[in-house]
Amino acid sequence: MSGEDSHILGNLDDLDEGSMRVFEDIGDYGIVVCKVNGELFSLEDNCSHADTPLSEGRLRSYNLTCPLHGTSFDVRTGEHSGPPAYQGVPCFRINIDDGVAVATPLNNKSNNDDGYGGIGGMFQTR
Ligand code: FES
Repeated sequence: MSGEDSHILGNLDDLDEGSMRVFEDIGDYGIVVCKVNGELFSLEDNCSHADTPLSEGRLRSYNLTCPLHGTSFDVRTGEHSGPPAYQGVPCFRINIDDGVAVATPLNNKSNNDDGYGGIGGMFQTR
């Protein structure tokens, strides 16, 4: 299943549990794909606070923590944990189509009628 906003990532069977992989040429900042509990999740690879690649941070369970100031983002929703970031980040749904991973925007600017709000994340802290 893919649409015009979807991005074909290829076969990600070799991505280890708890690992991340960056696709730099998608969108303005690239996306980071994370494998947690056998499932693939993806966020825009850019902290909403001060434009830092989240892929340089630490992935623990479903939380990807920004390396600069420590806000963490839920890889399932893009939701942020709190300040200093004040909003979430766009996230992508990963579908596997014949062994090929496809990323589709879930809550970004072009698809903001799903209850997640504007640019991403489920709420803002200010
Ligand atoms: S740049 Fe990510 S929390 Fe500040």
